[in-house]
Amino acid sequence: MTDASSTPATAADDLVAEIGRLEDDARARVAAATTVGEVRAVETDTIGKRSALNALRKRLGSLDADGRRTVGKVLHGATEAVAAAVAERRAVLEAAERTEQLLAERLDLTEVLPGRPAGHLHLVTQAIQDLEDVFVGMGFTVAEGPEVETDWHNFGALNFPPDHPARDEYDTLYVNYRERGSTLLRTHTSPVQVRVMTGTPPPYYAVMPGRVFRSDTADATHMPVFHQIEGLVVDRDITFADLAGTIDAFTKAYFGGDFTSRLRASYFPFTEPSAEFDIQRPDGTWLELGGCGMVHPNVLTNCGLDPDEWQGFAFGFGIDRLAAARHGVDDLRDLFTNDIRFLTQF
Ligand code: DAH
Repeated sequence: MTDASSTPATAADDLVAEIGRLEDDARARVAAATTVGEVRAVETDTIGKRSALNALRKRLGSLDADGRRTVGKVLHGATEAVAAAVAERRAVLEAAERTEQLLAERLDLTEVLPGRPAGHLHLVTQAIQDLEDVFVGMGFTVAEGPEVETDWHNFGALNFPPDHPARDEYDTLYVNYRERGSTLLRTHTSPVQVRVMTGTPPPYYAVMPGRVFRSDTADATHMPVFHQIEGLVVDRDITFADLAGTIDAFTKAYFGGDFTSRLRASYFPFTEPSAEFDIQRPDGTWLELGGCGMVHPNVLTNCGLDPDEWQGFAFGFGIDRLAAARHGVDDLRDLFTNDIRFLTQF
């Protein structure tokens, strides 16, 4: 009889002792975890469905009602205590991991002071400055014009007749200002030619870099906002040979002496004759760079110059693809996402 009554009590005591051991072990493992992932694994191991602690539930059935109540309470308490330790440890480790991540991604936005390294310029800005340097070295000045332009500067003065299909190629973004269609985001830097010619008397030897806009979906090779550089030379007795020579001199100065250039016949409303120009790399491959030609007499007239007295040539090309190609960047969008980790590579 004594045996029969003492056995359940002993069994219950054994279970309580085992629960205590499992709880201590679980707490020790939680405390030893050094990452959020480790805590998660310890949680599954110690109080998850397949844990030893959970398996003890099945053994409650062999106890009497009293024992079940007592041991059940202890088991519940131990599970809760481990769960609380897990939550606490996880919070600590999460905070530590977040701090570490913030430190790793920290941007130094402190003011540049004398003697402190000043970061560096964006790839496209570097390209614009390099191009300006080369052209200034060749005797050009640098001019700028507005990004919001009139239809007349962007198209009309450049000899695009109204409703001419050539306008359609420019996917123009119009600005809701004054008369409908009168004001736009410039689609190319060519209107700066008009600004230069109407602003000061000739001769002109100018390059005009700037931002241009077209209603285009961004992809690896197109951006709705991009950069061009325009060139304009107007003087007495300027010929097509001067144009070809200038393009070639620029090619060698900017890319290197082992690069050459060629012109292919093309069409632009503001030049006649017109050409596209390509550069040849030392490995023999060609890169299409931009357009050029002799300034159309109508353009000179529109800008108040007498075509019998003044002649010239113009050229224009995109800067972004050039900068990207130079640095092996194969997706233009990477240039403008402004992820500091990408940009600081250059
Ligand atoms: N504006 C032209 C474009 O965006 C490029 C161009 C072609 C510029 C010929 C020129 C030129 O100055 O002469 O497609």
